[in-house]
Amino acid sequence: MTVKTIILAAGQGTRMRSAMPKVLHKVAKRSLLQHVYDTSKLIDENNIIIIYGHGGELVKQTLSEFDAQWVEQKEQLGTGHAVLQADSLIDNTDTVLILYGDVPLLSKQSIDSLLVNVTEQSMALLTVNLDDPTGYGRIVRDASGKVLKIVEQKDASEEEQKITEGNTGILAVKGEQLKSWISQLDNSNAQQEFYLTDVIEMAVNDGIAIKTSQPDYVDEVLGVNNRKQLSHLERVYQSLQADKLMEQGVTLLDPARVDCRGSFASLGQDISVDINVIFEGNNSIGNNVSIGANTMINNSMIADNVEVLANCIIDNAVVGAGSRIGPFARLRPQAELAEQVHVGNFVEIKKSTVAQGSKINHLSYIGDATIGSKVNIGAGTITCNYDGVNKFRTVIEDGAFIGSDTQLIAPVTVGKNATIGAGSTITKSTPDEKLSLSRSKQISIQGWQRPVKKEQ
Ligand code: UD1
Ligand code: CA
Repeated sequence: MTVKTIILAAGQGTRMRSAMPKVLHKVAKRSLLQHVYDTSKLIDENNIIIIYGHGGELVKQTLSEFDAQWVEQKEQLGTGHAVLQADSLIDNTDTVLILYGDVPLLSKQSIDSLLVNVTEQSMALLTVNLDDPTGYGRIVRDASGKVLKIVEQKDASEEEQKITEGNTGILAVKGEQLKSWISQLDNSNAQQEFYLTDVIEMAVNDGIAIKTSQPDYVDEVLGVNNRKQLSHLERVYQSLQADKLMEQGVTLLDPARVDCRGSFASLGQDISVDINVIFEGNNSIGNNVSIGANTMINNSMIADNVEVLANCIIDNAVVGAGSRIGPFARLRPQAELAEQVHVGNFVEIKKSTVAQGSKINHLSYIGDATIGSKVNIGAGTITCNYDGVNKFRTVIEDGAFIGSDTQLIAPVTVGKNATIGAGSTITKSTPDEKLSLSRSKQISIQGWQRPVKKEQ
């Protein structure tokens, strides 16, 4: 069975008060349309049609990697008119699924429960019972409960406005039926729009039954019309992510204060996450890892038994087993730490490997460096990797000890078990085992006196 998914995404989104088309606004760092597209991919990945309109070129450009057919709706004349634009792409034998580009949280389960209701004799409609159905089309049923039609808020009688069963807008139907109905739509209604919802009455007249189902929870079918609704769906999404993490055995000190804007390639056992932690990209986290407060982890691999203390940023980095990071450490892309490495406060590491058991505990910049095992880097050490034009590497071999406040002017190599005296500026490679230092001799001036303030 071919399921063609038509995603309606041509609406203007005026209430967002944004220069950007509404469907490009994001929940968990993914655009609204990306969420809907990703869910559609789970249904039938080769048959996705996106109806775009207002600011549509930008939508198309931004999401150009989508494997979808883009159809322009030049004027937004209503949801029925939007679907009509895709008429030539719909085959009679298709099952057509209509989704909204601004309803990001609809689940695959809800779509599946809709699709089973589509046959030659029936079409499927996703409805929702709402405490306050204002703004929604209402599902009008007869005394026996059979669906008769959908009436839009603006066209509804006072009696009809009391109906609390709302139309989500999500439906599925056989291509042949849909094609015949959308060609007959007119716009003689309060909004002078071509309403897709009018096909319900046409179906009933053609003897096609309307089978309804409901989503697992209401937030799944909520759309975004303004920034408040956007923030609501962000929180809903985050709370679902937090639930998933806890189901997988992660301790969250406060599930309301962790944000996952990406995915996990793997999650170990007994991970503990303090408050205000943000995960982005694709992370992999081992067993017994604890993550301190106010930490951001992006696209990184964290092995077993790692302790990340508060206020760290770990971005596209690798942290080996048993290592301890932070507080206030920043691991930048291609920082690769082996096992048992300690990185302390105000240490920045970029494009560098640090072998087993090495320590960089305070106030250092390590960039473009290869650091051996059991190296101790003193406070305030800087690898001077950049001459303003080119980058150069620093190599520090196993067992070396770098005294505090050392500048290593790359390219430079510090030999095995070498010691560098504090306060040195190292411009030449240093031999194994020896103490090297570059420091002017300390002197004390005899008879020197402090200046005194001049009389006026
Ligand atoms: C629609 C439904 C209503 C339902 C509500 C749920 C109709 C006539 N009404 O109303 O029954 O309760 O959704 O939110 O269908 N769009 C286009 N082109 C257009 C118009 C809309 O692509 O010309 C897209 C929008 O981008 C949006 C979706 O269709 O993704 C719904 O449009 P919207 O204007 O929000 O519909 P409502 O009037 O709220
Ligand atoms: Ca809407």
